[in-house]
Amino acid sequence: MSMFSLQGKVALINGGSRGIGEAIAKGFAEHGATLILSSRKQDGVDRVANEINAAGGKAVGIACHAGKLDQVDALFRRIKAEFGRLDVLVNNAATNPYFGPILGASEEAFDKTFEVNCKGYFFMAQRAAAIMVQQQAGSIINIASVEGLTPSPMMGVYSMSKAAVVMLTKVLARELGAANVRTNCICPGLTDTKFAAVLVKTPEIHEKYVQQSPMGRHAQPAEMVGAAVYLASDASSYTNGAIITCDGGMAV
Ligand SMILES: NC(=O)c1ccc[n+]([C@@H]2O[C@H](COP(=O)([O-])OP(=O)(O)OC[C@H]3O[C@@H](n4cnc5c(N)ncnc54)[C@H](OP(=O)(O)O)[C@@H]3O)[C@@H](O)[C@H]2O)c1
Repeated sequence: MSMFSLQGKVALINGGSRGIGEAIAKGFAEHGATLILSSRKQDGVDRVANEINAAGGKAVGIACHAGKLDQVDALFRRIKAEFGRLDVLVNNAATNPYFGPILGASEEAFDKTFEVNCKGYFFMAQRAAAIMVQQQAGSIINIASVEGLTPSPMMGVYSMSKAAVVMLTKVLARELGAANVRTNCICPGLTDTKFAAVLVKTPEIHEKYVQQSPMGRHAQPAEMVGAAVYLASDASSYTNGAIITCDGGMAV
């Protein structure tokens, strides 16, 4: 257990108000981390922070649109002022406004996808890394997707953005490793969240997706927590640049 302890660590979970981010936040709290939860809506992060605090953990919610640099900078100013350090970033907030073929993708959907999934991930990681390099310690965990490794039909723009997150992981692992800042990536498969509700709840689409996974089913958000705790903790002290699939074997 001690190898996986997060006692004394301060972790920022972006997109922590529901789904995979909420599950990781609660898992980190159980392992002793102090949590900063961000997402666009203050009431969403407050709900999760209140539940964690009521269960004896330590969490605060701070609203922040991940694709708006002024809001990202305001978030990091508060982190520096109120916590004075940052040990873990879970870069998790993403969007997929368009489900359809590449030929039908609009400029608006393309820009929105890349604003949150790429620009957001990049500047969250850059701002976190600035603190971590000074500390000479830190762990950045990018939540990408199995779509970033192997594309599914109708998900082309999203898949491109997630491939960029996989490459961002490798770039940061190379650039920051010497400062003892590790960057790794989790690639979930289809997971039962609001984000994937159409895929999970539409039987014809769901059947096509789960057929691609050797395990023949979708995941629950809690099934992403073990990999995230490993990457945040000292158990992964020599793991840097890893791309960990939690997809039931879909990317094999
Ligand atoms: N579910 C799947 O099947 C699946 C599969 C592979 C990968 N993933 C990845 O897993 C991650 C989490 O997805 P999820 O399924 O847990 O989705 P979710 O349940 O819809 O949660 C998304 C979270 O991101 C926040 N968010 C959305 N846009 C944001 C923005 N512009 N700025 C800041 N926060 C924002 C949301 O809160 P607000 O609405 O308050 O902003 C929420 O907290 C994403 O990176 C997604 O690509 C999901």
